[in-house]
Amino acid sequence: QSNDRRKSKKERAKKVEKTTENFESPPSDVHEIGGKATTSLSGQIHRSNASQPQTKHSTHLAKRSNAHQRNETQVPPHLSKKRDALLSTRKALPIWPHAEYIRAALRKNNVLVLTGETGSGKSTQVPQFLMSEPWCTKTIAITQPRRVAAISLARRVADEMGSLLGNQSPSAKVGYSVRFDNAAGPNTKVKFLTEGMLLQEMLRDPNMSQYSAIIVDEVHERSVNVDLLLGFLRNLVAETDQGTKRRNPLKVVVMSATVDVEGLVAFFDEGLAPLEVKTSDSKDQHNSCSSDSGSGNSSQKIPDIQSAVAKDNDQNARGTNQEQIRTPRISTCHVEGRQYLVKTVYLSEPTQDWVEAALKLIFQIHYKESLPGDILVFLTGQDTIEGLEKLVNDYAEGMDKEVPKLLPLPLFAALPQHAQQQIFQPTPYRTRKVILATNIAETSVTVPGVRFVIDCGKSKIKQFRNRLGLESLLVKPVSKSAAIQRRGRAGREAPGLCYRLYTEEGYKELEERTIPEILRCDLSQAILTMKARGVDDVLNFPFLDRPPREALEKALLQLLQLNALTDVGAISDTGLKIAKLPLTPTLGRVLVEAAERDCLLDVIDIISALSVENIFLNLVTEERKEAAEVARRELYRREGDHMTFLVTVQMYTEEHSDRKSWCEKHFVSHRAMQNVMNVRKQLHQQCTSLKLLSPHASTTSSSSAPSDSKTQAILASLLRGFISNTARLMPDGSYKTLMGNQLVAIHPSSVLFGRKTEAIVFSEFVFTGKAWARGVSAVQLDWVSEVVDAIM
Ligand code: CDP
Repeated sequence: QSNDRRKSKKERAKKVEKTTENFESPPSDVHEIGGKATTSLSGQIHRSNASQPQTKHSTHLAKRSNAHQRNETQVPPHLSKKRDALLSTRKALPIWPHAEYIRAALRKNNVLVLTGETGSGKSTQVPQFLMSEPWCTKTIAITQPRRVAAISLARRVADEMGSLLGNQSPSAKVGYSVRFDNAAGPNTKVKFLTEGMLLQEMLRDPNMSQYSAIIVDEVHERSVNVDLLLGFLRNLVAETDQGTKRRNPLKVVVMSATVDVEGLVAFFDEGLAPLEVKTSDSKDQHNSCSSDSGSGNSSQKIPDIQSAVAKDNDQNARGTNQEQIRTPRISTCHVEGRQYLVKTVYLSEPTQDWVEAALKLIFQIHYKESLPGDILVFLTGQDTIEGLEKLVNDYAEGMDKEVPKLLPLPLFAALPQHAQQQIFQPTPYRTRKVILATNIAETSVTVPGVRFVIDCGKSKIKQFRNRLGLESLLVKPVSKSAAIQRRGRAGREAPGLCYRLYTEEGYKELEERTIPEILRCDLSQAILTMKARGVDDVLNFPFLDRPPREALEKALLQLLQLNALTDVGAISDTGLKIAKLPLTPTLGRVLVEAAERDCLLDVIDIISALSVENIFLNLVTEERKEAAEVARRELYRREGDHMTFLVTVQMYTEEHSDRKSWCEKHFVSHRAMQNVMNVRKQLHQQCTSLKLLSPHASTTSSSSAPSDSKTQAILASLLRGFISNTARLMPDGSYKTLMGNQLVAIHPSSVLFGRKTEAIVFSEFVFTGKAWARGVSAVQLDWVSEVVDAIM
């Protein structure tokens, strides 16, 4: 009997080995210095440091193997089939041969700076390389600047691992967490999150105790959130290095397509305790575990800045008896990407109408280029994308039947998930995809099959104007490095073509790099996050690039105005609530005020509508514009855009039979409304957990037209948050902001366009040649004074 049991155990092991041999990613031809190798059931080579207690390690391995075995036998066949099919693609990725180097680097040091071209496999492979490491007993977090990237990466890694996603099964090993959508389960081992979500988690758990490693991806994008994360992580790594805070060290991997490696290494290194100085007696010891470049695959050339520093110091010290020896504490690794030649074509004359220019080029490529391959067009935002999508569809309708089809697919941050996922689907037969994207597709999302890139040379960026105290979205020329990244998207799989909708001279005039967001943005949210996390002295926070003092002070002042900080600069109760909401401090304050004024549900509807770029369709022809004016009459409110948004959301919610047709009838974007509904649902949940909303409250705001007092309460709540965005009517008919005296005009998209009212409050400031107020409501000056008096 025991023989039988042994035999069946052996068979089971063999079976598992067979299913798992392709599962994890350990190149078996690697060798390691100073580590002891053991082989687990799955054929995975685990190495332990000589210093690690062997017994504990073996037990740990045995446990992991068992767990692994249990999970493996549960992988449904369709998932394991997908996983196995993807393995050869994974193995061909440029990062694959670096797996062991990366593992060894993190066994030795707590921080790794990893650079590599977009598409080399950093985001998908690194977490999988690390998840079976002995130190990796908890979850690995990977941050992304955008929701779409976090979600699509999670899906891809789940496929590669033969796992479901966290919200589909409790045993799922891969999950994601983005604003308004959480798909991480209890057994999630690899979790993709937006930077904002990880910052939120840090508020609840400052030591990040649920994670073994945090991978900060796309650092070159230099969003405010990434800079904050790096500052917090630097402190956390330093604290663990000194034996405080966490029991086990947190491993940090900083990854990017292009980055100032030296700057990042120095940044993390400065945070650590002063370097040890050793005498020459200890030289042997230093050599045995010194340069990281020696410990990985010997054929790789891996720059190690700290080793270089160490060598220099060695040489300077020669001739004296004392040698200052530095053991590198931050590892670095560079992965060479694969890039095919991309021919660049410029315009001979500059153009202002690049939507028109892009349209012509799309059809020119489609008709004249014999090469197969999809087209990726870089545009500035949802409005230009939807405008061009409509034009391409209209013109494509007139194409001959023999000509292959054109399939325009939009890609922007606010696009609902299922629509975003379409770009990853294989191109249908006899069809050319035209992906119309924002800078999201620059490095963050890899779109397969692209051979032609059309670059409008512009992008929308946030810019804070300190003097005015207003943040606006500006359409600005991209930097050279962004233009190079965009061009590179055409050469991922074969030689390609990049059409730049500007002249060669224009290219030469571009800035070399994009200015980090922290140097040009409203910092109030960043500072509130720091305060909520216990950073009292924000002026001395470790910033990778220190924002100007004026900007920091302005943000502190704004938080004081919002009552988020107390007079002595500590975070207030209101501030704590706002910090826990996934909204800007301004919108957070509006919500808190609305709860006090008993109009929270209505304000949630309005904020949900504000969270998408535009709930109304962007119309191109005069004919359609006129038709829309008539159709939307029942939605428009004389009080302005915010009440119009409220009515639109309410009517859409009440439409139970056919929401799509309702949208078409009213020229409302169904796509945007689906997003609005998702945000609305999440805000209800969050307000309930913050006790702003009773758990038993109905989640539908009253559908009957709001009373005057209700309308006033709603507008007063908006005023409380947006007090800096108020303007009064001047005798000449123009509007000037109350704070800053800036001239603003009501945007043509507003229902109040062309109307005169004594004062306005607006939720967005747009600067396109002229200063525009978008999302505008009419208010009374008395109400404004009331709010100002309450603040003073
Ligand atoms: O992070 P990095 O840009 O270096 O590469 P990655 O995102 O790990 O992507 C590696 C490869 O995985 C890409 O070239 C795509 O072929 C594939 N991938 C995919 O098919 N779908 C995704 N959502 C992400 C990646």
